[in-house]
Amino acid sequence: MRLFVNGEEHALAVPAQRTLLEALRYDLGLTGSKQGCDKGDCGACTVLAHERGGKGRGEAILSCITLAQDAQDLEITTIEGLAGPQGLDPVQRAFADCGALQCGFCQPGMMLSARALLDKNPRPTLPQIQEALSGNLCRCTGYTKIYEAVQVAAGLREPARRAPVPSERAAPSDSKAQVVKEIVP
Ligand code: FES
Ligand code: FES
Repeated sequence: MRLFVNGEEHALAVPAQRTLLEALRYDLGLTGSKQGCDKGDCGACTVLAHERGGKGRGEAILSCITLAQDAQDLEITTIEGLAGPQGLDPVQRAFADCGALQCGFCQPGMMLSARALLDKNPRPTLPQIQEALSGNLCRCTGYTKIYEAVQVAAGLREPARRAPVPSERAAPSDSKAQVVKEIVP
């Protein structure tokens, strides 16, 4: 079978039940697409897809519940293919600028769902962003920074700025400070 991924065509010999996610990760080495629930619940495996020869990057689809053989007529974009010759995609840049990640496991899927939304709707409302990302679960961030990042990528706002938090100075009587003082000359 053949898969067209990030602008390149690949010839693969895989079992009929191989999912697109497995083919991406284990046959093509594109491990940016994450294997979370592996049953269509978490969105970590999200990639973009459209009919071959079509325009744009297409819709967000779940690669864990798509058979690789059913993707042969599609052009697939994974997170590895999101940045272009000009550098990071604005969505990637905004996620970085907003600090919209912690462990990062959900981020490839989040960013690709966000890209699919902005390609269709360049100035989404917050409810539209929330709806578009509702299939992407994040166990770490609480979503606020993620929604902010999508708004920043759309040019609807600037990243929130926070005053730096002053580091706490240990009081001389603090026992931890004493220990550190003793072991650090
Ligand atoms: S890995 Fe969770 S939806 Fe695909
Ligand atoms: S940053 Fe950890 S799951 Fe989203």
